[in-house]
Order: sequence, then C-alpha cells, then structure tokens
Amino acid sequence: MKMDIAVTVNGRRYQASIEPRLLLSDFLRDVIGLTGTHVGCEHGVCGACTILVNGDSVRSCLTLAVRADGMDVVTVEGLGTPDQLNVLQSEFREKHGLQCGFCTPGMLMTGMDLLKKYPLASDEEIREGLSGNLCRCTGYQNIVAAIRSAVALRNGSTS
Ligand code: FES
Ligand code: FES
Repeated sequence: MKMDIAVTVNGRRYQASIEPRLLLSDFLRDVIGLTGTHVGCEHGVCGACTILVNGDSVRSCLTLAVRADGMDVVTVEGLGTPDQLNVLQSEFREKHGLQCGFCTPGMLMTGMDLLKKYPLASDEEIREGLSGNLCRCTGYQNIVAAIRSAVALRNGSTS
C-alpha cells in the first residue's frame, strides 16, 4: 500500500506516493535527492539528521515521511547558498565550527532552532540546546563560539 503526500521542502512543493513506513530522512535523501541531511545512528541519538518541520527542530530519522504531509520542511540546503551563506553558516566557517563536517547539517539546523527560541542565548543555553547533537571531531568549543557569534551579530554586537 502506498500513500500520497505533499510536502513543502525549502520553499518547493513535492508530491510523492510512498510507503507508510518510509522515514523522513530517507524521503529527503532518496526520494527528492536532498542529501545534505546526514544519517548517522538512525535511532535518534546523534542529531545528524536534524531538520526543521514547521519551524521546530525534528530528528528526521525518527519521523515517518507521511507525518510531514502538508508541512513545511527546511533542510540545510534551504539555509543559504555557497555565495550567500546565512549568518550561522558564515559563523561556523569563521570560527572553524567544523572539521569532518558530518555533524554540521544537524548542528546548523539545531542552531537555527536555538536562534529562534533563544535570540539572546547564553553559552549555557547554547550548550544545553546542542546536547542532543554529537560531534566526534571538534570538542564543541568552536561550535559554541560560532553560535555565540551568530547570536551577537543578530543582536547588533560582535563576539
Ligand atoms: Fe537521526 Fe542519529 S541519524 S539522530
Ligand atoms: Fe566531524 Fe562534527 S565535525 S563529527
């Protein structure tokens, strides 16, 4: 049995007929070809697959694609372009907030949620907000610095 869904991803509407058991992460990567969303643990632990659904961060490996029917999804591809990075992307680059880059899409999407919910986020709130995203490379210091800097830039100061 297949089900028809219509999802808006990064401002573009996609319609598909899919199996009800298909995960949203697999829908994004394999059905519509947006491979920027990474899949690590596949059981909700690492945060690499984090995306925004109707503005809130969601683990796409724990979400069935049919649950996204009618919803508005943003993936890392929807943040900025190589020529025009968004503030978080540019601060990750500026502060060296990545090494291998595997965790980075999830870190950015969680960071976007953080910036929205805590526009004046303290370091403690940033660390708490990132606690569900694992990074094997950086030691987190520079990721926190990048988000701190994005918070400052958004509030008209520098960090
Ligand atoms: Fe989804 Fe790890 S791949 S949380
Ligand atoms: Fe390698 Fe985070 S930069 S896992």
